[in-house]
Amino acid sequence: MNTLNNNTQKNHKVATPNIHYGLSEDAWKNYDAFLKDLIDRFNSVSVCDVGGGANPVLDSDYVTEKELKYYILDISEVELKKAPENYHKLEADIAAPQFTINQKFDLVFSKMLAEHIKDAKQFHTNIWGILNDGGFAVHFFPTLFTLPFLVNYLTPEILTTKILDLVSPRDKYQHGKFSAYYNWCRGPHKRQIRRFINIGFEIVEYWGFSDIVVITRK
Ligand SMILES: C[S@@+](CC[C@H](N)C(=O)[O-])C[C@H]1O[C@@H](n2cnc3c(N)ncnc32)[C@H](O)[C@@H]1O
Repeated sequence: MNTLNNNTQKNHKVATPNIHYGLSEDAWKNYDAFLKDLIDRFNSVSVCDVGGGANPVLDSDYVTEKELKYYILDISEVELKKAPENYHKLEADIAAPQFTINQKFDLVFSKMLAEHIKDAKQFHTNIWGILNDGGFAVHFFPTLFTLPFLVNYLTPEILTTKILDLVSPRDKYQHGKFSAYYNWCRGPHKRQIRRFINIGFEIVEYWGFSDIVVITRK
């Protein structure tokens, strides 16, 4: 996963989305660098890490250095409390029909959140509503049709928690486990692209790994 296509200019709409395929490990390794590049190139000032919870994507040294207005928006007060103090924190359900906040952002992004949202249409519609004109929304999520996530989807919660503990022991305080639905967590097929366009987004890039990164724009 490298930087955003150079043809993407500030006020220039992209006619057809750039679709790429790559290795999942690249997405995991490069997601934060990709966001930083986007922030630099489009001089983003206000950014929102939706579902950032305990682990915001961008490190606090970078946020301070760039003087970013960095908000973590999360449904869980408990998760927000685990994040370092030097981030702005907003407790809200991004998928609520009555969702309103006072801020708007140049860039809204999420990492491993989309699969936990039941009402995907409301989720993306609410994000559209908190973007400044020309602002970007970027989502990094797993697709349902990869083996570990298919197993997670089909297996009862109690069992998947046990399996996860076995195959991937983790700090359970900092890295909780959340129910997953995988709604709209799909690759770049026509129906999926139309879903974003119908909300009002332009699809700038769509990266298919076994995990996905989609870059949309208001
Ligand atoms: C799997 S964690 C990912 C946390 C972080 N982005 C990371 O990569 O480590 C999912 C996060 O999304 C939050 N979340 C789940 N549903 C949400 C919603 N409807 N609105 C806002 N946050 C939500 C959870 O509280 C949790 O902090």
